[in-house]
Amino acid sequence: MKTMRYVDHGAGGPPEVLRLAECAVPAPGAGEVLIEVAFAGVNRPDCAQRIGRYPPPPGASPILGLEVSGRVVRVGPGVDRWREGDLVCALTPGGGYAEYCLAPATHCLPVPPGMALEQAASLPETCFTVWDNVFSRAGLKPGERFLVHGGSSGIGVTAIQMAKAFGARVMTTVGTPEKAAFCRALGADLAVNYRDDDFVREAMAFTGDRGLDVVLDMVGGSYLARNLEALALDGRIALIAFMGGADATLPIPALLRKRATLTGSTLRPRTVAQKGAIARDLERHWWPRLAAGQGTPVIDRVFPWAEAAQAHARMESSVHAGKIILAVA
Ligand SMILES: NC(=O)c1ccc[n+]([C@@H]2O[C@H](COP(=O)([O-])OP(=O)(O)OC[C@H]3O[C@@H](n4cnc5c(N)ncnc54)[C@H](OP(=O)(O)O)[C@@H]3O)[C@@H](O)[C@H]2O)c1
Repeated sequence: MKTMRYVDHGAGGPPEVLRLAECAVPAPGAGEVLIEVAFAGVNRPDCAQRIGRYPPPPGASPILGLEVSGRVVRVGPGVDRWREGDLVCALTPGGGYAEYCLAPATHCLPVPPGMALEQAASLPETCFTVWDNVFSRAGLKPGERFLVHGGSSGIGVTAIQMAKAFGARVMTTVGTPEKAAFCRALGADLAVNYRDDDFVREAMAFTGDRGLDVVLDMVGGSYLARNLEALALDGRIALIAFMGGADATLPIPALLRKRATLTGSTLRPRTVAQKGAIARDLERHWWPRLAAGQGTPVIDRVFPWAEAAQAHARMESSVHAGKIILAVA
């Protein structure tokens, strides 16, 4: 195969700009594999890239798509772990919305036994992000009280599942009663509809006035000061996005009084080695649990990839709960 189809976002714009186009199949370099893509996960950052607000890091494919599942069809020099024919899911630096996609070999993980490829495609972006932020950076421990905002999002679902599996008490915020029920069914101990209730007051009641140990926040803006208000002594806040505003005011005395830790990160520009280390942690700590039936991915809807525009429109409408997937094969 010399050429392949991919989803082109042209010069950017609304979801309707997305169209199938043709380009050359990339060749794997040292340490890389070429994957024949079966399914590609859709993530909110793809929408940001489509409108020109999230440019790919230097050297990454300009094609959308941060995660795929499929079959390894070529391996580059120095790759021992994978062979042609292996079924994998992979975190990609871009390029997932295509028939063939390159990934560093160390960012591939085996499809968990018994898991469908469409489910496996939904794993990498959220698992890498949640593991790194909640467990490595914020150090969530069994028995601690955890809040994830946006519990019905792709990130939110994985955060609820992982935190519960590792023994935390989990609270989340959502925008509708249906999403609250969805999160409770996933295992959240408390789901607060932020349109009706104040999550700070609810968090204090949830923790017997002690406060939260860890908060995973994708909202930012005015939530930052409120997260701090809801935090326990020695609590940690991990920021991963700012859907509610890029600027915030932080009361520094409260930060000091609570001995709080504030951390922020974004996954895509991390080095190959850093993302490889997260993959190793996931394979050791989370993949055995997936194989045992914990944390089963929740798929909102699978769209044929020719309908990528509808998939993006659904994500931007926020009516979805769980992951949106493109069927590429
Ligand atoms: N830093 C990183 O490394 C990293 C990696 C991956 C993703 N992210 C970010 O994480 C976020 C979630 O990604 P995703 O792919 O899981 O997206 P998603 O499924 O589209 O979820 C976004 C969720 O955010 C909630 N939301 C939006 N605006 C809100 C607001 N103002 N207040 C409260 N909740 C709000 C929506 O829930 P309701 O409808 O209930 O409000 C929606 O379910 C995105 O912003 C993405 O860019 C960051």
